[in-house]
Amino acid sequence: MSAEVIYGKELAADLRENMKKEVFELSKKGITPSLTVVLIGHDPASESYVKGKQKASEEVGVDSNLIKLPDTTTEQELLELITDLNEDGKIHGILVQLPLPNHINEQAVIEAIDPKKDVDGFHPVNIGRMMTGKDTFYPCTPYGIVTMLRSKNITIEGKHVVIVGRSNIVGKPVGQLLLNENATVTYCHSKTKNIKQFTQAADILIVAVGRAHFITGDDMKEGAVVVDVGVNRLDNGKLTGDVDFESALEKASYITPVPRGVGPMTITMLLHNTIKSAKQFNNL
Ligand code: GUN
Repeated sequence: MSAEVIYGKELAADLRENMKKEVFELSKKGITPSLTVVLIGHDPASESYVKGKQKASEEVGVDSNLIKLPDTTTEQELLELITDLNEDGKIHGILVQLPLPNHINEQAVIEAIDPKKDVDGFHPVNIGRMMTGKDTFYPCTPYGIVTMLRSKNITIEGKHVVIVGRSNIVGKPVGQLLLNENATVTYCHSKTKNIKQFTQAADILIVAVGRAHFITGDDMKEGAVVVDVGVNRLDNGKLTGDVDFESALEKASYITPVPRGVGPMTITMLLHNTIKSAKQFNNL
């Protein structure tokens, strides 16, 4: 079998085209969705993500402001800034780029953001809503993955989803979203014994561990749907996923590539959440 490749990049472009129209319609009502991104320090990966967010926002007409702060910023200063952003009626979405410097308590920052403006979907209120199957801001990468599966009409209900990686940003929430869609979900992580026995049982295999080519074709069953969330830079400068693409392509029925796979969907769902927030603030 040779898998069909799911290009998130193409789906993201289609979705953004629709968002552009939606934003134009909102502009006729005097509404401009507005996102504020806070970036602390100079982490190259974070700077690159933030640049991508700015560019995509511009593309669809979402007003995007970047607040860059030095890595000497104190937790108190950041919390005060968030209070100001929470109170600013013109701002619909607040995103504090993670990771934060060690001297700042990440959880305190996440909890300081008004859940109504938490377009990352990281606030405990929004996580709780997601866990109980309610409509809310869903975390962007998990939501992007579900949107990719839906775009190919891949059945989720009744399928065995195996997730490798249990981060708060990807692994845990994507399992929850797929459980909400009636999948049977297994989580594997660094302490799991004999991971292969689980990955080989997966109808849908989602890999988010941050280790280049951690999963190969031999680790999956024939016809599996494989979603690769990894972004790893090789010594030769090239980006590659957590899945060995060549061997997986022979085994899977669908597979997402790296790059041009899940990555472009994350930013797209952030824009989706920002537009949703702008509509909610205007009772639309
Ligand atoms: N760092 C890596 N991914 C993300 C994300 O989705 N949101 C935020 N705020 N920081 C991140």
